[in-house]
Amino acid sequence: MTATLTRPIWTTEYELEIVDKLISQYAPHVPVKQETRPIETQEELDNFCRFRIRGAAHDLFIVQVCAKAINQIATNDPELQLFLSRQLGDDGAHAQHTRLRVEALSGHDPIDEIQQQVKKHWEFMGDLPIRDWFGFLAFELHYELHIVASLILNKRLTKINDPNSASFAVEKIIPDEAFHRLGVVREWQCKYDKASPQQKAEFAVKLIEADEEGQRCRNSYLKSHWEITHRALGYEHEAEGIEVIYDAWRREVLAYLLDISVSQLPKLVSVSEVN
Ligand SMILES: [Fe+2]
Ligand SMILES: [Fe+2]
Repeated sequence: MTATLTRPIWTTEYELEIVDKLISQYAPHVPVKQETRPIETQEELDNFCRFRIRGAAHDLFIVQVCAKAINQIATNDPELQLFLSRQLGDDGAHAQHTRLRVEALSGHDPIDEIQQQVKKHWEFMGDLPIRDWFGFLAFELHYELHIVASLILNKRLTKINDPNSASFAVEKIIPDEAFHRLGVVREWQCKYDKASPQQKAEFAVKLIEADEEGQRCRNSYLKSHWEITHRALGYEHEAEGIEVIYDAWRREVLAYLLDISVSQLPKLVSVSEVN
């Protein structure tokens, strides 16, 4: 893998351009937007709360990893410490809002269920997120960047919506997450771009190795998470193509970071592979 390309700057517009291309290539049946309606039945409410509890757990897991990483990964790196402190605060606020929204909708505080789900993230991710800088970056890629195409696909297919959650997402979550993704890309580029050709080759091998480990760790979680998400948002049978789009998007992210073309990447673990 040799560096051959000059990358455009990573922006949310650039992300959208790639994701739109992948959706029209692999899931052309997906509309640009659907009509949405609010939750109507108890079953829909239960499905929605279950889905949001998992969302809160995703964010609280990030908080727990960032707290450890500030101490263990970013030890002598104040730039990274400051970025992680922002990410920790933002994702903590997302988790807290989601917790309170589930409480308002269901009448009970879901904090214990959220923490149980967070424990599962620690179980399947193991020590990868805080093992070393590459493991930590793989964690950031999996929890912030690799999910982007599937989130955009969800947004396009959503039929059932909670207006309060939707407006919080527009005002707070979406801009925060864009900041996090850009920060992760910058963190990698700061070190990778300064490396010698030989170091770059070593960096590439280590990043792919850690990212592949992260993918294997997350495959069964993603499978069940997508089922729960699609049921809650009302489009159980219309998300065909999500695995292919997820895999293709992940390749785009990794190729961009390594400054190579997608075709120069080795074959990678697919999200559809069963462990
Ligand atoms: Fe978040
Ligand atoms: Fe985030």
